[in-house]
Amino acid sequence: MFRAVEISLFDLVIGLSEAVDLISKELNKHHQRVAYITYRIGAELKLPPKKLSMLTMAAALHDIAAISLRERIETLEFENNAQTEHQERGYQLLKTFAPLKEAAEIIRYHHWHWEDYDDAVPQESNIVFLADRTSVLLNDEIDNKERILKHVNKYSGTYFNPLYVEALMKAAANNSFWIELSLPSINRIISERIDNSSLYIDDDILLDISKLFSRIIDFRSEFTATHSSGVAATAKYLGELCNLSDSECLLLEVAGNLHDIGKLAIPKELLEKGGPLSPEERALIEKHAYYTYRILDQIKPLKAVNEIACLHHEKMNGKGYPFGIEGSKLSLSSRIMAVADVFTAITETRPYRDGMNERQAIYTLLTMAENGSLDERIVRLAVENYSELKKTCLLSQKMAAAEYEKYRMEVMGNLAVR
Ligand SMILES: [Fe+2]
Ligand SMILES: [Fe+2]
Ligand SMILES: [Fe+2]
Repeated sequence: MFRAVEISLFDLVIGLSEAVDLISKELNKHHQRVAYITYRIGAELKLPPKKLSMLTMAAALHDIAAISLRERIETLEFENNAQTEHQERGYQLLKTFAPLKEAAEIIRYHHWHWEDYDDAVPQESNIVFLADRTSVLLNDEIDNKERILKHVNKYSGTYFNPLYVEALMKAAANNSFWIELSLPSINRIISERIDNSSLYIDDDILLDISKLFSRIIDFRSEFTATHSSGVAATAKYLGELCNLSDSECLLLEVAGNLHDIGKLAIPKELLEKGGPLSPEERALIEKHAYYTYRILDQIKPLKAVNEIACLHHEKMNGKGYPFGIEGSKLSLSSRIMAVADVFTAITETRPYRDGMNERQAIYTLLTMAENGSLDERIVRLAVENYSELKKTCLLSQKMAAAEYEKYRMEVMGNLAVR
């Protein structure tokens, strides 16, 4: 077996969690802060290192399935308790990835009041809930410590397990707690202190986790539910047509799954908007490619993946975004990714248009090669192998669509039972 990258699962999770907070200034590093507070409470309680690491990962991802901006902002209201859906969605998304199954269980109940707990609810969920509610009371200056702690204390024994509140109070009595909470990169601090030695992942797990993130990105909207899967399969197949090695093809597949991760930072309302976009709206959507770069850049071992993923909107003539890099400076893999993205996007149906048929798609690809948008040689390969390419893309999208349907039914079914 070949190794593409070696990376700790903890660093990957905590780095990727930052993505969802870029969506709005109001979110104010919410996931990083909740992860930090959770970590400090857990450390105060002397949880075993592995448990503490899993719990902190759950905290770093806890609101990952709150998909619209409205929903994200609502979770920031202290007294808002009608928040079951994003917990269930988060659970359903993460439980399919075995190394994070325990974190998924914790996330499933992260708004439950301690007084309502039964045996099915992991106690650690209440630590995330406590950290979450503490975090939403913080403002930028963190100058209201006493008020925050007093407010939280009021709910000790009802919302929160008193033991956990006590641990929070002990941690918060320490000056470093507040200083570190206000630092620009809290993630680094947690990552340096947590025990993540046993969580190193190989390339199979890397592919699985990239798939998991492709679901988190795509399942926000039924209209994009299969996009990243289609791009990943198309890019891998084009890589094979270009005689790339197995590990280069693996990187293409992983990069395809992650190429739109920056879209987590774009409000769903805008992504789904039909009709013409204003220049401001277009500029905001185009930011997603830069955000993909920035998110993946946090995770140094993913450098090679990032170089393919974040350049998928660059053009051969240098008029693409986010960097305006010319074709001669783009690697073959990033040029493949650009073709794979266009191929998948134009052939799939969007809220504002139907997918193109073969004739229209080939015409569009050739035009884009001619006007300096896409690499001519790769487009030629795509056109020559059109039906095989379409079949590969469709098969992967069909599998993703079936998973999306299952996910939707399970979320709805479980919410109806509660
Ligand atoms: Fe939440
Ligand atoms: Fe939250
Ligand atoms: Fe994109």
